[in-house]
Amino acid sequence: MNSKNEITICLGSSCYSRGNDVTLEIIKDYLRENSLKESIFFKGHLCIELCNKGPVVKINDQTYTNVSKDNIISILDNHFKKTV
Ligand code: FES
Repeated sequence: MNSKNEITICLGSSCYSRGNDVTLEIIKDYLRENSLKESIFFKGHLCIELCNKGPVVKINDQTYTNVSKDNIISILDNHFKKTV
């Protein structure tokens, strides 16, 4: 059984200005398009203190660094799309 899923995006100035502004919108669209808005708690954080490895996104207990518009979809798919 799945426990409640949670996505945390760093919205600190370093991560935000280096790409999480765009990643934020991509995640919002992804949750909407995949009908996941109700089952995933999506929240912002001010600084996860990994600025030099940012932009940072956390999914549950897993931290992703160097997140960009080019890799966020595959990160989300790995967590939330079932492979057969
Ligand atoms: S601003 Fe994102 S880790 Fe510091």
